[in-house]
Formats: sequence, structure tokens, C-alpha cells
Amino acid sequence: MVGYEGHRGWINYLAVLPEYQKKGYGRKLVEKAVEELTRLGCLKVNLQVRETNLYVIGFYKHLGFKDDHVTSLGKRLK
Ligand SMILES: CC(C)(COP(=O)(O)OP(=O)(O)OC[C@H]1O[C@@H](n2cnc3c(N)ncnc32)[C@H](O)[C@@H]1OP(=O)(O)O)[C@@H](O)C(=O)NCCC(=O)NCCS
Repeated sequence: MVGYEGHRGWINYLAVLPEYQKKGYGRKLVEKAVEELTRLGCLKVNLQVRETNLYVIGFYKHLGFKDDHVTSLGKRLK
């Protein structure tokens, strides 16, 4: 799921079915997301990964993403 609220682009819940992982589909999904956000004039894309999910952090770092060193806050409304 990719969104753009006019300030930042966001990638949420990007995932590849386990049987199709490590075949290049994750990279293709991220590249397509970046392509579409760029087309919309977006200058930066953000995403959140649990800090314990080291594999996924490694994946995004490999694709050029960097730790922004910000604290993510959330509040459940229901
Ligand atoms: C993360 C995920 C999307 C990766 O998808 P994938 O299809 O397996 O990834 P790809 O095969 O496209 O890998 C792309 C590149 O990243 C590299 N890579 C993948 N995982 C890596 C890791 N942990 N560390 C370093 N590089 C990694 C691959 O070697 C590949 O490199 P290359 O294109 O330069 O040869 C997939 O593992 C997944 O769906 N995980 C579970 C869902 C999840 O937790 N999503 C995140 C929620 S925030």
C-alpha cells in the first residue's frame, strides 16, 4: 500500500508471499512505488518497520533507505 499526503510518500505493509520471496518481486514493488510517488512530485518516501524485524530493515537498507533516527508515536483510537 503506497500513499502520498502531499508532504511525504508512505509505503505500508509491503509484502511478498513466502513462496515468491527472494526472486526480485520485493525490489520491483518498491521500485514501482518510488516511480509512482516521483511521478506525483513526492520528494521523500518514508516507511516504518518494527526495530526487531532486522531482515526487513536489511532489505530496505540494501535498496538505499536510511534510518531517519526519529521516534514513531502512535495512539489507538478504537
Ligand atoms: C521484505 C520482503 C518484501 C522482501 O521481498 P523479496 O521479494 O524477498 O525481496 P527481493 O528478492 O526483491 O530482494 C531485493 C534485493 O534485496 C536484497 N535483500 C533482501 N533481503 C535482504 C536483507 N535482509 N539484507 C540485505 N539485502 C537483502 C536481495 O538480495 C535483493 O538484492 P538485489 O536485487 O540487489 O540482487 C519479503 O521478505 C517479505 O514480504 N517479508 C515479510 C513481510 C514483511 O515483514 N514486510 C514488511 C512489513 S513493514
